[in-house]
Amino acid sequence: MQDQIEALFDAPPPAYTAEHHSLFLSFKKALNRGAVRAAEPDDAAPTGWRTNPWVKKGILLGFRMGSIVNMSVDSSKLPFFDKSTYPLHPFSVADGVRIVPGGSSIRDGAHIARGVICMPPMFVNVGAYVDENTMIDSHALVGSCAQIGRNCHISAAAQIGGVLEPVGALPVIIEDDVLVGGNSGIYEGTIVKRRAVLGTGVILNRSIPVYDLVRDSVYSASEEKPLIIPEDAVVVPGSRGVLHPTGQKWGLSLSCAVIVKIDPGIRCFRGLDLALCGIGPRNKAAEVNSRNPNQFQCPHLSPHFCNSSIK
Ligand SMILES: CC(C)(COP(=O)(O)OP(=O)(O)OC[C@H]1O[C@@H](n2cnc3c(N)ncnc32)[C@H](O)[C@@H]1OP(=O)(O)O)[C@@H](O)C(=O)NCCC(=O)NCCS
Repeated sequence: MQDQIEALFDAPPPAYTAEHHSLFLSFKKALNRGAVRAAEPDDAAPTGWRTNPWVKKGILLGFRMGSIVNMSVDSSKLPFFDKSTYPLHPFSVADGVRIVPGGSSIRDGAHIARGVICMPPMFVNVGAYVDENTMIDSHALVGSCAQIGRNCHISAAAQIGGVLEPVGALPVIIEDDVLVGGNSGIYEGTIVKRRAVLGTGVILNRSIPVYDLVRDSVYSASEEKPLIIPEDAVVVPGSRGVLHPTGQKWGLSLSCAVIVKIDPGIRCFRGLDLALCGIGPRNKAAEVNSRNPNQFQCPHLSPHFCNSSIK
């Protein structure tokens, strides 16, 4: 499939045939299953991830091949128009995904694994990969090709930016067990390693430095690699003095992010009645977390901040 997609992308025909459309359909089904991914873990890569440019080419091909069609259920009351190649992702109850009614949209060509909870309104774009038991909360965006791990909480209004072009560029990657706090924004191929916690309102991109108070280090993106947030880092929004003399004269500061601790612990709030999750009494869950019996891990939902996961 890779060779066929690349050939079609590199040498566009005068018109796309039924055979081309059938190839694209098979490609999109593979994206939906998670069998092909825009980026995937790779131990040999310095960042632990590699991009699959041919997959991004296939996604771009879909935009070239499609024509704008009417996708409205009732075009007089609620009109929707988009590329014929990218309708809504088809789901059934057997997929084990909760899509709570009310204004969410998941494009075809995105992988949504079992146990994912989608709170309205949220949007997942083509090429995104969302792994098991992750929650995507209201007003959150999972941009094109973004890769989200298991048991993550993408909190209300968090924006995970899309990186479709250039095709060789790494998309935004959020590894397993990460909390992305409300109203935060992760852009430009940033990688957030396992179990990190991004506090409310943290913004990360290629230009924003991240000050690690624990390791006395400053992280930022370079030509060779994206910004990488280390495992278990707890990151909060901060500000730093402007270096430019005029900025100093005016007492200006620019935004940054600050790692205030490295904490591998499970950060569930107390007081959650797990009966709400439908998985049994609270003391059962307390046994799960031997590190701190006063806290507990909800085995069903995002391990971070379980109480905000009860939706
Ligand atoms: C990042 C966060 C997890 C830190 O919680 P914590 O582990 O209890 O951290 P602490 O309260 O010990 O804070 C550590 C330091 O960071 C500061 N800090 C914590 N969160 C901060 C934030 N969001 N902005 C700025 N500073 C923050 C604290 O003031 C403290 O500073 P100090 O040591 O100088 O006093 C929490 O602040 C947060 O943002 N949670 C996300 C909530 C959210 O968005 N939920 C989504 C619901 S949909």
